[in-house]
Amino acid sequence: MLTIAISKGRMQDATLALFARAGIEAKEEALRSRRLLIETADGRCSFIFVKPGDVPTYVEYGVADAGVCGRDVLLESRAEVHEPLDLKLGYCRLAVAGRREVLGEDYNLLATVRVATKFPRITSEYFHERGIPIEVITLSGSVEIAPLLGLSDRVVDLVETGRTLRENGLEVIDVIMESTARLIVNRASFHLKREEISRLIADVGAVVE
Ligand code: PRP
Repeated sequence: MLTIAISKGRMQDATLALFARAGIEAKEEALRSRRLLIETADGRCSFIFVKPGDVPTYVEYGVADAGVCGRDVLLESRAEVHEPLDLKLGYCRLAVAGRREVLGEDYNLLATVRVATKFPRITSEYFHERGIPIEVITLSGSVEIAPLLGLSDRVVDLVETGRTLRENGLEVIDVIMESTARLIVNRASFHLKREEISRLIADVGAVVE
């Protein structure tokens, strides 16, 4: 049996719908429950439901053989896993944003550029490559509120519809990367469970739109 880590939250329904189209489906009743580990109807796989940022960890450590998470989360984690499929769902951009009124402001004019984000590694790398010294303020959500409260000068966060930025008076300054959901696979499982993993990749790959 394969254990597959599913990102809870905004990608969860689309991910489960994709797996269902691939014939990997959990019973309605199990999905309605609050159980975090459920078996698929055919007993072929079990799903575990975890925070998106934790999916690469579960897969890297082999607690899950495979998982689904955004490219953004995967790159931030630097987990050593295989990434055989772009599932082409959950499209979003990881962007640098700031308050509308300071958009033209040069980074040099700010004493210390403070950047709030859930992606401290990607953020540090991005600014480091551009020679802009920053202080990263790591938050775990609602990042867009930081500039409004004076906690940070900029944010690096995900933009899907752009509504959260807009409604909090922020605008995109630069797009760091585009992201979609990826199927990731534990390195050992890739070899030790070759047959099951190949079947999983083939079945899911066949229904990616
Ligand atoms: C994500 C992201 C933005 C928002 C973007 O947060 O971090 O805040 O969605 O979506 P939009 O462009 O469609 O408005 P999420 O809802 O996952 O919650 P969080 O703030 O707790 O991370």
